[in-house]
Amino acid sequence: MVTIGRRNTILTIVLLVVIALAVWSQPDYERPNVEFLPAMRRSPSFEAYEPNPVLPGGTSSQTPIPGTIARGQLVLHYKATPEDAVRAGEELANPIPPKSKDRSASVGRGGRIFQVYCSPCHGGGGMADGPVVKRGYPPPPSLLTGKSVQMKDGQLFHILTYGQGNMAPFAGQLTPGERWDVINFVRSMQEQEKKRQEAAAAAAKKEAAKTKTEQGSGEAPAEGDAAKEKKREEQKSSPPNPAASDRTSEKKLPSQEDRS
Ligand code: HEC
Repeated sequence: MVTIGRRNTILTIVLLVVIALAVWSQPDYERPNVEFLPAMRRSPSFEAYEPNPVLPGGTSSQTPIPGTIARGQLVLHYKATPEDAVRAGEELANPIPPKSKDRSASVGRGGRIFQVYCSPCHGGGGMADGPVVKRGYPPPPSLLTGKSVQMKDGQLFHILTYGQGNMAPFAGQLTPGERWDVINFVRSMQEQEKKRQEAAAAAAKKEAAKTKTEQGSGEAPAEGDAAKEKKREEQKSSPPNPAASDRTSEKKLPSQEDRS
């Protein structure tokens, strides 16, 4: 003990005090520790679902006062009927219309939502070839060529909010903003499809014109006319979108055509 200096004595005492405090402050590991300033931990306010002796009804959460609308709350006066879907199309305005500067961001968000919530049935490209349909679920109409192309945005919003036929409502899964985003994405797919069809039609027209000039210059006129006639027939009977027929991934479901 002679070698231990004064400083070490003090440190030893401090150590012993710390150990003593630690032992004293937590004598029983089953019980909570000693509390300093417990008001930091035990707040005097009530939790949302706690019973409450002060408020009416004895609950902490209160129902909205009748006749009031909370800020940001969406109030829709529609029924889940096709007539009301059409009315919603007339009345509801898309908060992010085509020319607005947030449109492309909205389409981007909508694309991600579509892949998660819609593609299982409608297919990644909206062609009604999702995995659920391949296992026997009644196929929805194509979102690229079906009636939805002509529907107003508000009607699509109604369909997403209240459902339609075999399609369940998405009001529980998607916020109103997310519903508009996915509608904007569907619109962008439809625009691309329209452009593709126009390009294909233009290419077919060009091709036809080319064949005409080639025929016009040489062969006997009778044969040329017959070939032209044949070509015209072919164009009439072929689908409006000739380029689509050589897309191997596109399997048209028979019932898509049957739906009215
Ligand atoms: C469980 C499969 C399923 C899912 C998931 C689904 N749909 Fe549908 N959808 C359908 C079916 C089936 C119909 C046809 C309903 C009817 O009229 O009988 C339909 C119809 C529609 C229509 C109307 C098309 C028309 O021409 O009448 C739109 C628009 C639509 N869905 C969009 C969406 C969007 C957007 C999502 C994702 C948020 C989605 N659907 C998710 C199955 C589904």
